[in-house]
Amino acid sequence: MLTFEAFLIIFFTLMALIITVSIIYNTVRLGISPMPSSHKAYRTMMQLADETDSGTIIDFGSGWGNLVIPIAKRYPHRQIIGYELSYLPWLTSRLLKQLLGLKNLTVHRQDFYQADLSSASVLVCYLFPQAMQKISDKLRLEQSNVNFLISNNFALPSWQPIKTIQVDDFYKSPVYLYKISNKSENEYI
Ligand SMILES: C[S@@+](CC[C@H](N)C(=O)[O-])C[C@H]1O[C@@H](n2cnc3c(N)ncnc32)[C@H](O)[C@@H]1O
Repeated sequence: MLTFEAFLIIFFTLMALIITVSIIYNTVRLGISPMPSSHKAYRTMMQLADETDSGTIIDFGSGWGNLVIPIAKRYPHRQIIGYELSYLPWLTSRLLKQLLGLKNLTVHRQDFYQADLSSASVLVCYLFPQAMQKISDKLRLEQSNVNFLISNNFALPSWQPIKTIQVDDFYKSPVYLYKISNKSENEYI
C-alpha cells in the first residue's frame, strides 16, 4: 500500500516529467523554446511600442505571457493578442490573464503563420531566422494592416529597420523596429 508521501513524490515526479517532455517536444517541433526575452529587452520593446500607433498589438509566439501581460497592462485601451502553440506556456498565460483580469488580452493556441492580420497594427516577436523569413513572406503576400514590427534579436529579411537599439543585457541583443506600411518604399531588396 502506497503511503501519502510516496504518492506525492510519484505525482510530482510524473508532473515534472510530463512538463519537461511537453516543452522538449514543442521546442523540437517549433524550432524554438519558450524562453522569454530578457527584462531589458522587454523594456526596450515596450519603449519602441510607444513609438507606434494605437492599434492592436500581436505577439507572434507569446510563450508564458511574459511580454503580452506587461503590454496589456501598459496599454489598457489597445487590444493585445498572443499566438502560442506550446500547450503549457499557452495555458500559463491564459491563467495569468484570468487572474489579472486583463480584458484587453486574448491568447490563442494557434499557429501564428495562419493568423488573420487584418486587425493587427503592430507585430512583436522573439523568434529565429527561418521564422523571420516566413513572416517576411507573409507580410509581403498578404494584404494586412500591419504598420510596425518589433523584433528582439532577429532581423526581418529584406526590410530596413527604422530604428535599432542595442540592449544592455547578457546577450547584447539588438531590438529592431520596422515600419511595414508603404512596403515598396521600405524594402531594400
Ligand atoms: C522565444 S519564445 C518568445 C516568448 C515571448 N514572445 C517573449 O518575447 O518573451 C518563442 C515562442 O514562440 C512559440 N512559437 C514558435 N513557433 C510558433 C508558431 N508557428 N505558432 C505559435 N507559436 C509559436 C514557441 O512555442 C515559443 O514559446
